Amino acid sequence: MAVETASVDFTFHPNSNPMPEADRLKAFENLGFGTLFSDHMAVIRWSMDRGWHGAEITARAPFPVDPASAVLHYAQEIFEGMKAYRSAEGKAVLFRPEENARRFNESARRMSMPELPEDLFLQAVEKLVQADAKWIPTGEGSLYLRPFMFASEAFLGVRPAREYIFCVIASPVGPYFKGGAKPVTIWATAKYTRAAPGGTGAAKCGGNYAASLVAQAEAQAQGCDQVVFLDAAEHKWVEELGGMNVFFVMDDGSLVTPPLGGTILPGITRNSLITLARDEGLTVHERPYSFEDWKADAESGKVKEAFACGTAAVVAGIGTVKFPGGEFKINGGETGEVTLKLREKLVSIQRGQSNDQHNWVQAI
Ligand code: COI
Repeated sequence: MAVETASVDFTFHPNSNPMPEADRLKAFENLGFGTLFSDHMAVIRWSMDRGWHGAEITARAPFPVDPASAVLHYAQEIFEGMKAYRSAEGKAVLFRPEENARRFNESARRMSMPELPEDLFLQAVEKLVQADAKWIPTGEGSLYLRPFMFASEAFLGVRPAREYIFCVIASPVGPYFKGGAKPVTIWATAKYTRAAPGGTGAAKCGGNYAASLVAQAEAQAQGCDQVVFLDAAEHKWVEELGGMNVFFVMDDGSLVTPPLGGTILPGITRNSLITLARDEGLTVHERPYSFEDWKADAESGKVKEAFACGTAAVVAGIGTVKFPGGEFKINGGETGEVTLKLREKLVSIQRGQSNDQHNWVQAI
């Protein structure tokens, strides 16, 4: 649903009860993922008759949600994941934020939600980061930003809602996986699928993640960090993990990653790594790769490394893959050299520590 919107100005209502500095710094000493939140949030509302309006940066607080709100019944909800970093010179920087704004609207179209003009999305993110700049941790941490939109209209008929709330919250984070930089263990199963052709797999909507939880719980029960999903039609092709894309490093030095085709989330980290690998002179194939080939190639040594990637996870080596009835290791269960090199390249650009030849980093 594309909408015309008159210019929207943000109002700023500072939080009158921000977290005391000493408490914030104490919390920074042991950052995990997604449990600590900054003082403010950005909010913009949409209604059929007014379009986008009421933009504000305000104290982070619960929303009053009507029990008939459409999101609670038909799951019209989409989101993004992005990060603000503290650069070497101490500036707050964002990584490819316009890609998140663009993908957000792709998700909105798939879920019959109003598109948010990209400049409004970017303004909301930037103004929140400016308001909560002291919440960007120094060192290894970053400020994870979660833009999202949900259907707030109180209506039980099944049709696109006529009222929505767009919001951005911010959470200082450390490593996504509890083991930090340790290689992760993956559970592969054909019992559950994440996305079918024609479905919502390429949209960043909450429902995809809800559907992944039972498989993720099974993975954890098997002692694994993440689940890997196979395609819905043949249960043969590797698609993606519960919340991240996947790459394989082959013995000829090339990289393989499953192709985007509507069932896989078009990851911005995935796209950036393809570019960085090609910059390094590596060949990257976006092609179907079967689980049987992965297993055989790991055993023969044809696949040298595998890694997961995403905004939250960054780049995480995959050491062990378990499946019903067996398991195999990759690179002796260790994170490989190519994985480490690509991770280092990406992170140093994101943190403004190395030549940003693609102009991906934006100071706020
Ligand atoms: C992200 O990487 O930003 C995501 O949205 C994935 C989720 C597992 C945290």
